[in-house]
Amino acid sequence: MTDSKHVSPEKQAPDSPHRRTLFKAIGAATAATAGATVLPGCLQDKKSNASANLKFNEIPHRLDFKHHVPEGYSADRVLSWGDPLDAFAGKFKPEQLNASEQARRFGYNNDFIAYMPLANDAGPGEGEKHRQSRNSEHGLLCINHEYTQPHLMFSGYTEKSSNRGTRDEHIAVEQQACGHTIVEIEKTPDGWLPVLGSLYNRRLSLTTAMNIVGVAAGDRRLQTNEDPTGTRVLGTVGNCAGGKTPWGTVLIAEEGFGGAFQGDPDNVADEIEARNHHAFGISPGNRNWGDYDRRFDITVEPNEPNRFGWMVEYDPYDPESTPRKLTGLGRFEHEGFTLVSKPGKPIVAYGGDDDEHQFVYRFVSRGVYQPGDDVRNRELLTEGTLYAGQFSEGGIGRWLPLLHGRGPLTQENGFRNQADVLVDARRAARLLGATPMDRPEDVETNPVNDCTYVMLTKNKKRKPDQVNAANPRARNTAGHVLEIVPPGRSGARDHVSDTFHWNTFLLGGNPNAEDPAERGAYGQQHTGNISADGWFANPDNVAFDQRGNMWIATDGCESFGFHDGLWAMATEGELRAAPRHFFGCPQGGEICGPEFTPDGKTLFVSVQHPADADGSTFDNPLHRWPDNDPDLPPRPTVLAIRRKDAGVVGS
Ligand code: FEO
Ligand code: CA
Ligand code: CA
Repeated sequence: MTDSKHVSPEKQAPDSPHRRTLFKAIGAATAATAGATVLPGCLQDKKSNASANLKFNEIPHRLDFKHHVPEGYSADRVLSWGDPLDAFAGKFKPEQLNASEQARRFGYNNDFIAYMPLANDAGPGEGEKHRQSRNSEHGLLCINHEYTQPHLMFSGYTEKSSNRGTRDEHIAVEQQACGHTIVEIEKTPDGWLPVLGSLYNRRLSLTTAMNIVGVAAGDRRLQTNEDPTGTRVLGTVGNCAGGKTPWGTVLIAEEGFGGAFQGDPDNVADEIEARNHHAFGISPGNRNWGDYDRRFDITVEPNEPNRFGWMVEYDPYDPESTPRKLTGLGRFEHEGFTLVSKPGKPIVAYGGDDDEHQFVYRFVSRGVYQPGDDVRNRELLTEGTLYAGQFSEGGIGRWLPLLHGRGPLTQENGFRNQADVLVDARRAARLLGATPMDRPEDVETNPVNDCTYVMLTKNKKRKPDQVNAANPRARNTAGHVLEIVPPGRSGARDHVSDTFHWNTFLLGGNPNAEDPAERGAYGQQHTGNISADGWFANPDNVAFDQRGNMWIATDGCESFGFHDGLWAMATEGELRAAPRHFFGCPQGGEICGPEFTPDGKTLFVSVQHPADADGSTFDNPLHRWPDNDPDLPPRPTVLAIRRKDAGVVGS
């Protein structure tokens, strides 16, 4: 989401190498340090030609009311907020929006995108077959809706009412506009189009029944008046980024859930619970969902927030399936979790907790992944060990297990059992000595070199005495990217190992900034020819193309004077960490996604909260992208970017 990470903007808290050469330059701030230590694997890899494949003409830094792609590319609209998902819903008319209408339409503030192929010879419930098909012209788009912005959704909006009715009615709409959409899409001569009325089309919202599974399921801290079993919950919220599994399921993250709850944590009798609720920003000043739906008032249901803040797994290929909250992956402000799946090995999943001074996590499954054994594979994420990352001087790292009874994770410190460790994963990780980071967003593994990259978006709250090797800048406004190098050779690394190397892949910000503390550092800087548009700040989401190039989506560049967008770069070779600017958002918008089709010929992106700016409202918006129609407000939208000559994007 944007700078402020709460569910509703209405109460936004203020800001709640090239090989050896780059290593030296950036290393001065981080791992100078490495001294005699062997340079981590990904830096030693043979020069790859991946960078040479990035051939598009870079676009300029801009700030206007349009989106921008390089010459020779098109960006077609796939879906915007309010577009119908069934054949009878008809054109979006915002003045007629109510909860039941919103439930059959595309939700608000699209974020994460998973493209899930559809095999022509398989049907519902055959996820792995579909995934293996690699069909790049027909599939499902699975899209998160992170949060709602009532002042941009309802004409005449105030905190009590609008031209669309009372606050209760708004909240009912908002609860249907959050969550997730599954929609069948097809590539046609007119671009990518949704298949209206498809059996696969589905909305997940705050009223969708979900199961809670794993070690914490059923624990007393997850029990409520409506669900004394602690295993059933209605809905998901704050759905930011996510991941995909090789057995055809999708993972969606619950990030800024705290903003959905109201009440004073200090009125909750249990001291640990009060501290827990404070940690997620629950306060009496939050949005007033609790007045409408009592479970969002912690003075009525003090355990309801413990049923949010998890990763959710669901099967997009089975429209009847019930999503599951996976407690084994811990509870925090999940950006997402992405998987490393190797036959015969445990599943390894990496994720970030997107808040200042929070941690990077890794989950290792107890069982091993066996391609084709869907029944067992589907349980892999329910049992395993969660670890928090410790990034030490000299590029040395360790994964610290969050296990009850180990080290400080005992009754004395308020951990009765493993459920407590998972519910309070943040507190457990801090006690273990994990490294507090600069807002960890996406953490994803490059399929070519097998190294794992951590997007650290920014942390203005880091004080000079809180600087550490992996977070080298005080008041970090521009963010940075770390590279985790598990032991082993490129393409065959041991992600299960509890030790790793790490290094700073790049520092965001202007490479020509006067203040050295704010100066960005990129690979191309060291060849002396980084372009004026090649630099960026605030890395948030990341994707890799099949050649191992990294595509970074940003959230915050407007504070540096230009639009958020996409920058692509090699991770190895002469042009390692030398970004090129590929896509720009309309003003006020943030870009999420990004997601390639298996053939690399389509790149889907989410433009979230276009025209989000001070004073911008439904009635008087900054602009009306993408429709530019006086009868429509600005609408969050998913775009499909393609080369006009039908080639592979970026090559
Ligand atoms: Fe929802 Fe971490 O951005
Ligand atoms: Ca974001
Ligand atoms: Ca994000």
